[in-house]
Amino acid sequence: MSWKRKDLLGLEELSREEMEEILSLARSYKEKAPGDELRGLRVANLFFEASTRTANSFKIAAWNLGAEVLDFSPETSSLKKGESLLDTARNIAAMGVRAMVVRHPSAGAPWMLARELPKVSVLNGGDGAHEHPTQAFLDMMTLIEARGSLDGVSVGIVGDIAHSRVARSDIWGMAKCGAKVYVCGPRTMMPPSLEGLPVEPVYDLDDLLPRLDAVIMLRIQLERQGRPLIPSLSEYAKAYGLNSERLKRAGDDIVIMHPGPTNRGVEITPEVADGPDPVILRQVENGVYVRMAALRLCTGAPS
Ligand code: CP
Repeated sequence: MSWKRKDLLGLEELSREEMEEILSLARSYKEKAPGDELRGLRVANLFFEASTRTANSFKIAAWNLGAEVLDFSPETSSLKKGESLLDTARNIAAMGVRAMVVRHPSAGAPWMLARELPKVSVLNGGDGAHEHPTQAFLDMMTLIEARGSLDGVSVGIVGDIAHSRVARSDIWGMAKCGAKVYVCGPRTMMPPSLEGLPVEPVYDLDDLLPRLDAVIMLRIQLERQGRPLIPSLSEYAKAYGLNSERLKRAGDDIVIMHPGPTNRGVEITPEVADGPDPVILRQVENGVYVRMAALRLCTGAPS
C-alpha cells in the first residue's frame, strides 16, 4: 500500500497514482466480499447539510468493513448552545472516534478539522461549493467500467458549474486521469474564472453533445445561489435539460450520469434518467465501494 494520507479532502491535491490506488481497491471490494478489516474502528458521520447518498453509503461502507458508525445530528447537539465545530469534533474524537466523515456548508471546514485533529482521519463528504471527493471517485469508477479507461474520454459536465462541488472534484479527477473535460451551462452559472481548471467551457449543449463519450448532468444548486441566475426553470430546461429529442444529437453509446438528487423535468427528463441502461443507480452502487476504499486507506488498517 503506497497511500500515505490520513485524510481524503479533495482531488485537486491528489496525484493520479493516489486516485488509481483508491479506484483499484474499490474495484477489488466490488469483486469480492471484504473481511472485517476495520473491526473495532469507530466512524462518526458529521453532516451539517442534508444527504441521502453520501451519508448512507459511508455508513454502509463502514459496516461492510466491520466498523461502528456514530450518526451525529447537529440539530440535537450542543452546537445549538454555541459550541464550535472544532470543539464538537474534539469531543467526539475524545470518545474514541478514529474517522469522521464531514459535510459542511463552509468550503475548507474538513481541511481545518484534518489539521487540528492529528489522530483522526477526516473524509470530506462535501464542503460548500468546493470539493466532493468520493462523488468524483464513484463517477470515475462508473465511467471506467463503461469505457475501460478515462484516458482520451470526452466528458461534459452540464449545469450549475459555479456552485457545484461535484463539478470541481470531477474536473480534477477526470482530467488528471487523462479525460478531456468540458463544462457547459449558462454564463451566470459558470465560475467567475475558469483559469487554472483543466476544462474547456462550451455554452451550447447541442454543439457539445456530439463530441461527448459521457455527460454528467447537474442539479441547479438553488441553496447556494444568492439571487436568481436564470429567468425560469422551464427556460433552463429548454436550453440545458437533457431530453430524448436532444439526446439524438449524441452518440448512441453516450454514458449519461447524474450525481443525484435529480430534479426530473429540469436538468434531465424521466425517460432519459431511467433509460434502457440507467447508469445513475450504478453510480450510487459504486459509491459504497469507493467509500470503503477511502475509509480503509485513510485509517491505514493493516492489509
Ligand atoms: N450526490 C450526493 O452527494 O448526494 P447526497 O446529497 O444525497 O449525499
